[in-house]
Amino acid sequence: MTAPGLEILLTEEEIESTVARLAAELSTRFTDGVVLAGLLRGSVPFLSDLVRAITIRPLIDFIAITPYAPNTGRVRMLKDLDIDIVGRDVVIVEDIVDTGLTTAFIHGELSRRSPRRVCVCTFVDRPARRVVPVELDHVGIEIPDRFVIGYGLDHEGRYRNLRVLASAAPEVLAEDPDAYVGALYPA
Ligand code: IMP
Repeated sequence: MTAPGLEILLTEEEIESTVARLAAELSTRFTDGVVLAGLLRGSVPFLSDLVRAITIRPLIDFIAITPYAPNTGRVRMLKDLDIDIVGRDVVIVEDIVDTGLTTAFIHGELSRRSPRRVCVCTFVDRPARRVVPVELDHVGIEIPDRFVIGYGLDHEGRYRNLRVLASAAPEVLAEDPDAYVGALYPA
C-alpha cells in the first residue's frame, strides 16, 4: 500500500484480538449486566463487535453530542439515552478519547442520574492532547499524537467502515479528503 502519510496501526486480526480482550474484561467485571452507552457515530463498529464478543447480558443505548460552536471545546447533548440508568452499571463506549472533553461531559451527565457506576471503555486512547483528565477503565490501544481513521473513525464522514485502524496525514486529507480511498478501498 503506498499513500503518503498512511500507516496501518492495527490490522483486522489485531482489532479482533483487542476487542476480545476488552470483551473479556467487561464480561468479568459486570456479571450482573451492564448498560453499554455508545457514542454516535464513531463507536458503532466497535460497539457492534464488542456486544457480540461479551458473554454477559448488556442493554445497548446511544448518545450523540455536538459542539456548541466550532473550537469552543463545549458540547451539548443531541441525543440522550432512552434507558433509565438509576442503580445500573453503565459503560460509556467510545471510538477515541482525545482531549477528553467529550468523555468528561458524558461522564458528568450520566453520573448525575444515580447510576451504580459509570465506567469508560474506549477503543483508542490518545493521551498527548488531553485537556481534561479522565479515567479510562478499559482501553484498546494507546496511540501517539497522530490522526487516525478506520474502525469507526472518520475524516469528513469517510473511512469509518475500514476493517483496520490507520494513521493518516491531516495535511494530505485537507488537500483531498479522498486521498486514501485508492489505497484503502482497493477495487
Ligand atoms: P475528544 O477530543 O476526546 O472530546 O474527542 C472528540 C471526538 O473527536 C471523538 O469522539 C472522535 O469522534 C473525534 N476524534 C478525535 N480524534 C480523532 C481522530 O484522530 N480521527 C477521527 N476522529 C477523531
